[in-house]
Amino acid sequence: MESISYIKVPKGLENVLVDKTKISVSDPEGKLIYRGYSIEDLADNSFFEEVAYLILKGKIPTHEELSDFISNLKNEREVPKEIYDLFKKLRGTYLSPIDLQKIGLSLLAAYDENWYVQEPEALFLKTIKIISKLATITANGYRIVFKNLEPIQPSNELLHAENFLYMLTGSKPNPFFAKLLDITLILYMDHDFNASTFTTRAIASTLSDIYSALLGGLSALKGPLHGGANERATEMILKIKDPEDAEKYILNKLAKKEKIMGFGHRIYKKFDPRSEIAKKLFMKLVERYPKYDNLLKIMIKFEEVMKKERNIPANVDFWIGPLYYAMGIDIPLYTPIFAISRIVGWSAHYIEQIQDNKIIRPKAEYIGPINLKFPYERKFIEKL
Ligand SMILES: CC(C)(COP(=O)(O)OP(=O)(O)OC[C@H]1O[C@@H](n2cnc3c(N)ncnc32)[C@H](O)[C@@H]1OP(=O)(O)O)[C@@H](O)C(=O)NCCC(=O)NCCS
Repeated sequence: MESISYIKVPKGLENVLVDKTKISVSDPEGKLIYRGYSIEDLADNSFFEEVAYLILKGKIPTHEELSDFISNLKNEREVPKEIYDLFKKLRGTYLSPIDLQKIGLSLLAAYDENWYVQEPEALFLKTIKIISKLATITANGYRIVFKNLEPIQPSNELLHAENFLYMLTGSKPNPFFAKLLDITLILYMDHDFNASTFTTRAIASTLSDIYSALLGGLSALKGPLHGGANERATEMILKIKDPEDAEKYILNKLAKKEKIMGFGHRIYKKFDPRSEIAKKLFMKLVERYPKYDNLLKIMIKFEEVMKKERNIPANVDFWIGPLYYAMGIDIPLYTPIFAISRIVGWSAHYIEQIQDNKIIRPKAEYIGPINLKFPYERKFIEKL
């Protein structure tokens, strides 16, 4: 039937280079680089707004560029009141917070007269709007739908991470927690052609609008093998009360061929550099809040057992989930928080994709039957 000879690639596109990017690269040796800068360097020396600008524009902002970027982000925090009205109607439904973000993002498009833009500068400005408003939608949407609370007016004083915590709790954020959140947002911001970014780029490649592409990114991120892992890993870790019970728990799961959430990675086989940083953050947290020492011991035990049994390292989600837990954040928010950061990466990939575009359209090897005949002859077309 087929006259062309196709190139067969491994399932899951494992080890396949599908395109070029200048945004970020993850390396099996345990390296992650954003626009030339290592994740260790950025996590230690920069903050969300600087890294977001770097990812989007490809350069460290000047003092003036950064101050404009920050004030634009602050000015875009409010969302149409109608979004909150709709959220109120969703109380008591089976909605997940990621789907709440999807509804919020769709509504942002509905209230955006210029929802379809393709020029890089217009897209940069659109992205600022989306990054800022998605954080508001997430925090206030969670308050409204899941906590039965009223939305909080975003602050136009605070930086992005601080303001997110402020909207979530309604009180001035603990600066230590705000810094922890800020660093984790940097860790989550981009990761070359991961599943959600590839989804975003596939949608971008059809020249669909940025909102639609980001909605695709959110949908892919939700899955437990991707962004959903931070929530599942935390739920799993919290089931263990004593470090001594961790080994039995893991062995039991492995014997049943179940995956241990928060372990393993398509690219990082030795270690995930983001996980190493998040682990350091957790240790810093324990220095200030010793009551989490037992949790730390349980998590270290998980790492030891997974190393011994399968030689599989922990990934970023294993350490970030419990970190958020110790900061007092509700578990259903962990993947949405991942999204409020990764939206920066997805947006940069959208812009990169459409600037040098070819529609992403692979081919499947058909293994089903051919030449079957439908059992009823009705001749609908003939009779038209
Ligand atoms: C991330 C992940 C999807 C990568 O998948 P992948 O590159 O396709 O790798 P595979 O799932 O094929 O794993 C390779 C081997 O390691 C095992 N493995 C990988 N992750 C594992 C885990 N978390 N627990 C137990 N075994 C695991 C697989 O069972 C497989 O073993 P096999 O060769 O004997 O069949 C996978 O490691 C996973 O499901 N992890 C748990 C979910 C998670 O934490 N996701 C967040 C990633 S940041």
